[in-house]
This record gives sequence, C-alpha cells and structure tokens, in this order.
Amino acid sequence: MVARLVVLISGGGSNLEALLESLPSSGIPAKVVAVGSDTTAPGLAHALSRGLETVVVPTDAYESREAWGVALAEAIEPFEPDWIILSGFMKLLPPGFVQHFSHMVINTHPAFLPEFPGATAVKDALAAGVAHTGASVILIDEGVDSGPILAQERVPINPADTEGVLHERIKVVERALLLDVIGSLVRPVSPDQEGRERP
Ligand code: GAR
Repeated sequence: MVARLVVLISGGGSNLEALLESLPSSGIPAKVVAVGSDTTAPGLAHALSRGLETVVVPTDAYESREAWGVALAEAIEPFEPDWIILSGFMKLLPPGFVQHFSHMVINTHPAFLPEFPGATAVKDALAAGVAHTGASVILIDEGVDSGPILAQERVPINPADTEGVLHERIKVVERALLLDVIGSLVRPVSPDQEGRERP
C-alpha cells in the first residue's frame, strides 16, 4: 500500500519541494496526493508544476477559526490522506480539525522543541544567544508545538549567523528528518524485525 500524504504550507514551500524531489526515489511507499494552504502561497507552484492538486482555504473567509477548520477538513478529506504534513503551515489548527484527523497530522518545526515553540523560533533562538538550536518533527496536538516529538536534531548556531542563514541550515536538517519520519510511519517495524532487534 502506498500511503497518501497531503501537505499543508503557508509560504515558499522549499521543504515541500525537497520532499517532492526526494520521496519518489526514496523507496518509501508514500506519495504526495495534494497540497493545501491557508493562502495563495508561492510554494503552491511546486505542486502545480508537478500536476498535483491544490486547495486554498483562507481563514478570513470564515466567521470563526472552528468554521475555517471544518472547511479545511472538508477540502482535504476527498484526497483520503493517511498522513497530513504541516510543512511551514503557519496557522494554528483548531481543536475540531486536530480531533478529526487525530494522530495523523505531523509538523516540522525549526527548533529543538520544547525550546522555542511558535512562529518565530529561529529569531527567538538567535535572540536568546544560545549555542545550539535544532529541528523537530512532532505529532500535532491542540497546543502550540506541544505534541509528541517524533524526531529531532541539534543545529549549531554560528556567531555570524543571520536569521535567514541559520534558518536555511535548519531546513536542510528538517528535510532529512521529515523523510526519515515519513519512512518510519508508513513502514512500521514488523514483529519479526522487532524480535530480531531485541537484545
Ligand atoms: C520550515 O522551517 C518549517 O519548519 C517552519 O517554516 C519553514 C517553512 O519553510 N514551520 C514553522 O515555523 C511552523 N511553526 P519553507 O516554506 O521554505 O518550506
């Protein structure tokens, strides 16, 4: 079975582009079936140029966050996703959406959570003057970047780093982590392998 992925973005979608490039030759039985956004994000072009379907569900077209979440869920549902991947999706999903797609929404975040949650994680790490930040992939819950951590890796901060330079270095790590996580989610360890790996 090939797992069906719907990716949600809000911006340039460089991590989406990397996923679309790397997934087909990765051997991971998964494919991106659609890309969604809360806005006419420039990153949607990565999907359109590959003939993938896109959906845009803007928050300001709905009277409440919950109503927007219902509309977003209704737009995604026809693609029958096995996993929904937030890749630079910058809107907090309402509880109704999280419950509807319970345990099937994962999120990449440019920090070593629980350090620096929220929308300005890279800037916050630089402002804190720490030596390391990181990248994380989490399962989402109803909080802000508070769900269970699936994978994470440290990224050193160099003295000359600007926010843009550091963020680009973090994204390189995010892309590899995301691919690893998708691989482990869609190819769970079989009981046979588990047995062999036990000491
Ligand atoms: C990525 O670093 C992603 O982790 C981050 O936005 C960037 C998207 O980059 N997401 C968050 O900060 C969510 N809290 P991209 O648009 O170039 O793929």
